[in-house]
Amino acid sequence: MIGDGRGFLRFLIVSSLAVLQLVEADSSPYFEPFNVSYDHRALILGGKRRMLTSAGIHYPRATPEMWPDLIAKSKKGGADVVQTYVFWNKHEPVRGRYYFEGRYDIVKFAKVVGAAGLYLHLRIGPYVCAEWNFGGFPVWLRDIPGIKFRTDNAPFKEEMERFVKKIVDLMLEEMLFSWQGGPIIMLQIENEYGNIESSYGQSGKNYVKWAAEMALGLGAGVPWVMCRQDDAPGSVINACNGYYCDGFRPNSGSKPTLWTEDWDGWFASWGGRLPHRPVEDLAFAVARFFQRGGSFQNYYMYFGGTNFGRTSGGPFYITSYDYDAPLDEFGLTSQPKWGHLKDLHSSIKLCERALVSSVSAHYVKLGPMQEAHVYNETEGKCSAFIANIDEHKYATVHFLGKTYSLPPWSVSILPDCKNVVFNTAKVSSQTSIKSRAVDQGLPLNLSPGQKLRDTQAYFSQSWMGLTEPINLWSNDTFTVQGILEHLNVTKDHSDYLWYFTRIHISGDDVAFWEENKISPTIEIDSMRDVFRVFVNGQLAGSVVGHWVKVAQPIKLLQGYNDLVLLTQTVGLQNYGAFLEKDGAGFRGKVKFTGFKDGDMDLSNLSWTYQVGLSGEFLKIYSVEENEKVEWTDVVTGDSPSTFTWFKAHFDSPEGTDPVALNLGSMGKGQAWVNGHHIGRYWNRVAPKDGCRKCDYRGPYNSDKCMTNCGKPTQTRYHVPRSWLKASDNLLVIFEETGGNPSDISIERHYSEIICGTVSETHYPPLHKWTKPDPLPVTISIDDLTPEMYLECEQGYVIGSIEFASYGTPDGSCPNFQRSSCHAANSEHLVKEACEGKNSCSIKISNARFGGDPCRGIVKTLAVQARCISSTSSRLLVSNFK
Ligand code: GAL
Repeated sequence: MIGDGRGFLRFLIVSSLAVLQLVEADSSPYFEPFNVSYDHRALILGGKRRMLTSAGIHYPRATPEMWPDLIAKSKKGGADVVQTYVFWNKHEPVRGRYYFEGRYDIVKFAKVVGAAGLYLHLRIGPYVCAEWNFGGFPVWLRDIPGIKFRTDNAPFKEEMERFVKKIVDLMLEEMLFSWQGGPIIMLQIENEYGNIESSYGQSGKNYVKWAAEMALGLGAGVPWVMCRQDDAPGSVINACNGYYCDGFRPNSGSKPTLWTEDWDGWFASWGGRLPHRPVEDLAFAVARFFQRGGSFQNYYMYFGGTNFGRTSGGPFYITSYDYDAPLDEFGLTSQPKWGHLKDLHSSIKLCERALVSSVSAHYVKLGPMQEAHVYNETEGKCSAFIANIDEHKYATVHFLGKTYSLPPWSVSILPDCKNVVFNTAKVSSQTSIKSRAVDQGLPLNLSPGQKLRDTQAYFSQSWMGLTEPINLWSNDTFTVQGILEHLNVTKDHSDYLWYFTRIHISGDDVAFWEENKISPTIEIDSMRDVFRVFVNGQLAGSVVGHWVKVAQPIKLLQGYNDLVLLTQTVGLQNYGAFLEKDGAGFRGKVKFTGFKDGDMDLSNLSWTYQVGLSGEFLKIYSVEENEKVEWTDVVTGDSPSTFTWFKAHFDSPEGTDPVALNLGSMGKGQAWVNGHHIGRYWNRVAPKDGCRKCDYRGPYNSDKCMTNCGKPTQTRYHVPRSWLKASDNLLVIFEETGGNPSDISIERHYSEIICGTVSETHYPPLHKWTKPDPLPVTISIDDLTPEMYLECEQGYVIGSIEFASYGTPDGSCPNFQRSSCHAANSEHLVKEACEGKNSCSIKISNARFGGDPCRGIVKTLAVQARCISSTSSRLLVSNFK
């Protein structure tokens, strides 16, 4: 048992307080209070070992309005647990001043999880990595005298302890721990410290010990984990992260095998390709983990979401944190990923009884690269996993008197040790193709099959513009000699830091340059992330990179020249040792070369510093303030302007589909809708090469299955519905490099085409299976006939069946073709079963299709359907008949 005594004491202390809050904050207990402990096999919830599936969702990467739907979809997809980090920098923006509102209302998030009947794994960190700005550290932390992050350093430990305690106390007060009837079953301290521990020598080791003891001393009363920390002390469980964790073992025989981060995709950088992890490989990794003794697995991420505002880490991580997760950035299911994993989770749940009642598996070698793990063989509730880890070939194996054909790189799951109900490489779940529509004139009166009009979004007012001054406008400027470190000046209140000076150029130098046909060059030893130089009001050069050398030739005139340098951050470093030293802007020497009498050291000059943009300072992106400055009309066809603010008003697309701004016509900058900062944007294009057809077989890495080569990494930016009004929404854009705002459009995102391919050799309809509670002693699978299941998103119905063939159809979604083996009634039958409905299912059998269309051959049903909005479908009912 972990900390139960302390937890109970804490419970007594806070309970009277919490009873008062019950009435006020609607924090009725979500569960019968239960204790959480563990043994070598699993977490033990209320006295029972459990096999748990967890969905990683970071609350600020969505809006509170999105949380219930995301959590409901996680539950429907088979999750028992939701996992999130806690984001210190946003909860304590100013030292000692806490913020828990809006997207940062972590208490509300925990309650939404509890209300859905799911558990919560809270990873407090407070270092989180997470591709989040500065790994979650508040930037003010750098300014604490004598501080060194993540090591045995008193000032750091004091700040860390204060924040971790703040969060634990908040959860206690809100009665959110399992033993208080709340959803929290597990916590995390630190994150992946094992990767950098050696950089800190003995101090690192001391720090790990201190962090564990400090966490355990807070009286949370549930187990703590450390993710990737081989030396996790005492009762703290060291957990695994990575693409595969089936070989992982914790550092003590009394701890369970937990996988805190199963990377089901990967993040992307501006100008990078988009990573994709095939679901067959992901399902293989998860099944292998449970096969080989794992008991808790979390998808990092189940929903990745969006790095709104300036929250993305870096440098250079894009605003979307889609992560190729089962729920996409907008909260729509990514199919077949979501559905195939749902089937996997159902099949694992069918085995849970056997898995938890075994001390360990019985291992059976079935071939050179084939093996079975059998759980609880003896007690009549046998479950087995059979793996073929051969990357290339099918294998035929014999197991408990039956023969099985195993696809390469796959696991078959047999909840009763006899029948395969799931194979990781055979996807029965539907595929869906996402569509985007730019509507004008709503509601949509679509007939089946009719294409949505691809027209320009309606901006109720023409674009207005305003130039950002490249000069001193702030009252807060100061002048010093020398080049200062960027973050020391900006404190990360803005991406932008301006450095102003004036230099005098002699006639001799000008003559020297002309004579030698050279230009003076600004040279910087090292710079991050974006550098721009302006001479006499004109942009003279830009450099992008992460601690790169700069050599930028520029033109100077005889006499006085105004020189303006600009350094910009594009997400602060979130990974690595010594983050407090990383900083931004320049490192090393900043000088001019190419002068007649040698180099000019620019750090000897007096510089005037100014933080941010005047538009940021005046909050001209907000509904309240934008009218207070003088905007002028932007004439279409004007040459693209750099350092310009644009604004326009637009109406929302009708309905509830997620909305995105398409900023493909713009360069680089930031955008706000009704004052909400939707994030940085940048039209940087990914390399042309490096995308190849992806084979799920064999070990995955983030470079293996890239998409989007030769295209901008991101052009669409999520605008959450709750940030929009029906009409007259204010869009404000700050553009740095030049773009054409009149080509910006507002899109609805939805799943339009859904397809299924299920054959006779697929497995029973797991999609239907809902976990009985408690689990029965023996689980029978009554009907083994495979079934195709199709479902449109909520609010949509199947408007038309565009293809249906039971036989041996060729091609793939959305380009199927009939072959000579085709049941004549295929289309009629599928139409009858599906049209006008949100979801439908069809059994895959000859009998259902009126006989065998071609004997001796495995038959497949392939269907392509179009989902239409259920409101427009009412108009179409007559068309179905
Ligand atoms: C892990 C880290 C996560 C995240 C992930 C990559 O190592 O713990 O926070 O950064 O890598 O997405």
